[in-house]
Amino acid sequence: EAIEKGGYDHFMLKEIYEQPKSIADCLRGRLDAKSGRLVLGGLRDYMNKFQNAERIIITACGTSWHAGLVAEYLFEEFARVPVEVEYASEFRYRNPVVGEKDFVIAISQSGETADTLAAIELAKSKGATIFGVCNVVGSSIPRTTHAGSYTHAGPEIGVASTKAFTAQISVLAMMALKLGYQRGTLPESKYIQLLHELEAIPGKVEQALKTNDAIKYIAEEYKNVRNALYLGRGYNFPVALEGALKLKEISYIHAEGYPAAEMKHGPIALIDEEMPVFFIATKDSSYEKVVSNIQEVKARKGKVIAVVTEGDTQVKAIADHVIEVPATHEAFAPLVAVVPLQLLSYHIAVMRGCNVDQPRNLAKSVTVE
Ligand code: G6P
Repeated sequence: EAIEKGGYDHFMLKEIYEQPKSIADCLRGRLDAKSGRLVLGGLRDYMNKFQNAERIIITACGTSWHAGLVAEYLFEEFARVPVEVEYASEFRYRNPVVGEKDFVIAISQSGETADTLAAIELAKSKGATIFGVCNVVGSSIPRTTHAGSYTHAGPEIGVASTKAFTAQISVLAMMALKLGYQRGTLPESKYIQLLHELEAIPGKVEQALKTNDAIKYIAEEYKNVRNALYLGRGYNFPVALEGALKLKEISYIHAEGYPAAEMKHGPIALIDEEMPVFFIATKDSSYEKVVSNIQEVKARKGKVIAVVTEGDTQVKAIADHVIEVPATHEAFAPLVAVVPLQLLSYHIAVMRGCNVDQPRNLAKSVTVE
């Protein structure tokens, strides 16, 4: 096992550090920005269905559902197709309105999640086209769906999903760019620019991993808190959910993720000097709004720890701690911004003596409903 961990103390840490490579593996052979090439083999026979879909329904559980939320923003922004993101467990029991004009994307690391499989069967029986985004080759979901793309992240052993999440977003981002280009909603020059930006992500994730020492320091300071809040807007809202989930899963600290603007409709009541609030505040179209949300937390004496874009000055001036990550297009920010949050939950869990790779009560793949 020590050999399998490749010198890391835990699989989770190894998998966090593998992300520059796993994302590159996921993009390899599919994306070549220089020639403007973007090919997803799995889509080839279903491109017509995809392009003419009146709606995209994404279904998944857990971290994969968070990747689905990022995809909602991607598909709507670039391809202008309405998207619904559904918890598989709710979708399957709701008698949902779904039919032949829907393109259903099922996301699953393991490819074995019972609820996701059942949601697929249901949508299939109603005539929808089902596309899988899975990591485990030959697992049940890829065998049940009409078509799909593997994430090629390699085996993920840690129960808390890390590299599978970033690989899922990478596949979904390629799908959204392809669809936008084909549908003509994404002009060629912008499309090419985004391909270059996506191609640069592995290098930026490598940079983001360099925050590790700073994060250890922050982990030391907050390892004994009982609650934590994670806030972000736009593309970073799902990152807030994922950051909170990572902390809950492996350190057993109660954490909630919220869209930053929703804070005033509830969570703000929880803020006092004991409450750490993790903001994902990278430079994007909602940056100024996030800055004012940070001010609202500071005015109530909350502690603010913010993931910001390199060179940031505004948040730096008001936050208790900042973690800098490289700039990228806002649509790809989740791929970079989630990395320090993964590291933070890892270090806090280790400092609390938790079993990081096999947290209590959780399973890597949930094959029962
Ligand atoms: C379990 C795992 C999570 C995972 C979820 C969905 O809860 O502990 O890490 O996100 O299942 O799994 P899937 O394999 O379908 O992505």
